[in-house]
Amino acid sequence: MRYIILATILGGLLIVGMFGSRGHKFNETPVEIFNDMDRQARVNAQSSSDFFSDGLGSREPVEGTFPIGFSIPDKPFSEGDAVEDGFSLVGTYFNSGRIGDYYGDGLPKEVKLDKNLLERGKQRYGIYCAVCHAESGDGNGVVRPFGNGGQIPIANLHEARFADTSYPDGEVFSVITMGKGLMGGYGGSIPAKDRWAIIAYVRALQKAKLDSEKTVEGNSPASTEDKPSEN
Ligand code: HEC
Repeated sequence: MRYIILATILGGLLIVGMFGSRGHKFNETPVEIFNDMDRQARVNAQSSSDFFSDGLGSREPVEGTFPIGFSIPDKPFSEGDAVEDGFSLVGTYFNSGRIGDYYGDGLPKEVKLDKNLLERGKQRYGIYCAVCHAESGDGNGVVRPFGNGGQIPIANLHEARFADTSYPDGEVFSVITMGKGLMGGYGGSIPAKDRWAIIAYVRALQKAKLDSEKTVEGNSPASTEDKPSEN
């Protein structure tokens, strides 16, 4: 055992002696056992290159494509290019939840609020949202107990700050589409029309909760939380 420890210490000293300690600076080219692909053929940005026929090292974006980080030019929202069941995020309120630079409120004209829409919304909510936000919307879905000791702050959709007027439908649309904070986006899996159906259903859930609170008002047990003042 003693020899193993001794050999380890000596081995360590040998390695440090050969390669220098961490952070140690020296001017000579370091010993390169493997060159880790440090040096290879490349084109510097903005420099010329014989490889391409136009002599430019940097390439122009391919026509009809947009580099990552650039947004697709928006059409004026009046143009009405809503795509039924589309996944696009541009153009009309239907596809973006925005009117100009602002979140809009209410369902877009392409979506009619009726029993079918609410049923579809309920079903889609059950598929996509309830695992986290729970069937009731209070944020105690089945995944709640897992991870971080059950302390994952899944939003309670009945909180006053998500109430209709202060949190417009367009903003909910944006949260479903792109996610927010710890919540991932579902824009790639839920078509726009279904997102609106979910929003209609969430609004119905919120209203049902508020209405049920009103009916039991007066004889409800003393609330343990600070209730936001009625507005
Ligand atoms: C995988 C779990 C998960 C799923 C599924 C999920 N959410 Fe969330 N959601 C969260 C978490 C966590 C937050 C809190 C995000 C934060 O504040 O960081 C949140 C926040 C929100 C908020 C509030 C955002 C804000 O402004 O604070 C809304 C609205 C919302 N979710 C709606 C939905 C809807 C509608 C669906 C279904 C399409 C859905 N969520 C699906 C986890 C989830």
